[in-house]
Amino acid sequence: MQNAALALDAKSTDFPIPANVYAERVTSVTHYTDSLFSFRMTRPATFRFRSGEFAMIGLPNAAKPVFRAYSVASPAWDEELEFYSIKVPDGPLTQHLQKIQPGDTVLLRQKSTGTLVLDALTPGKRLYMIATGTGFAPFASLLRDPETYEKFDEVIVTNTCRDVADLRYCNELVSGVREDPLIGELVEGRVRYYATTTRETSPRMGRITKLITEGTLFTDLGVPPLDRATDRIMICGSMAMLNDVKDIAEAAGFVEGSNAAPADFVVERAFVG
Ligand code: A2P
Repeated sequence: MQNAALALDAKSTDFPIPANVYAERVTSVTHYTDSLFSFRMTRPATFRFRSGEFAMIGLPNAAKPVFRAYSVASPAWDEELEFYSIKVPDGPLTQHLQKIQPGDTVLLRQKSTGTLVLDALTPGKRLYMIATGTGFAPFASLLRDPETYEKFDEVIVTNTCRDVADLRYCNELVSGVREDPLIGELVEGRVRYYATTTRETSPRMGRITKLITEGTLFTDLGVPPLDRATDRIMICGSMAMLNDVKDIAEAAGFVEGSNAAPADFVVERAFVG
């Protein structure tokens, strides 16, 4: 056993592990499309985070490795860590990260942070999670956290992607949450899932911004329009979408919250992709 472990170490760490960085092992990798994949890895016992936060990850492939902010897609209680990523052919990290295999080493900085946390919102009845693309990752974490359902009666999770295949990770995640033996009962009837595409034809099409401003989202789900008295919003995805949804929320009287000053909506700006 010891020899096997040493052999793995030798294989995957050609460069020394930088100080104050965890070196973890990939346990599984799933590819969804040419540009989307997810992976799971071991979690250091001392790595603590709140569901919805992001961490800095990198690879041991240089003396000074490139680190990028990645929302943790697994919930805070999970004994492993999960991440959901794009693949960029010439992306400084993702061109290499997309090739990882079980057993490989991924580096993780020790501190997590972020604004898409339940603590940054004041209490409400209905929580909207608005995502585009891999901006869904922090919601994959929060949807699996029982605290979300302690704090909110109903969760409406939306994801907008160009093509139908881009929705597979979140489709499977939401189905998995509903069928989960531990959390399924808690979420029963309380998670509404609203997925749309903008390029490929699908049953539900259009940018979420248009679907909100035209009221389609609310009529489709049979819920009242956005109301600061009852609703809270979390937003993660492309920068243009963040800004547009923020404008919509502010026009409806919502106030942006933070860890220091919880309020009605939160935006994750560290997200890239
Ligand atoms: P669209 O196809 O109309 O650009 P991307 O793949 O470029 O990161 O975009 C992911 C999804 O986010 C796409 O479906 C895209 O729609 C949508 N999107 C891009 N910009 C905005 C925006 N400003 N508001 C709402 N949705 C947006």
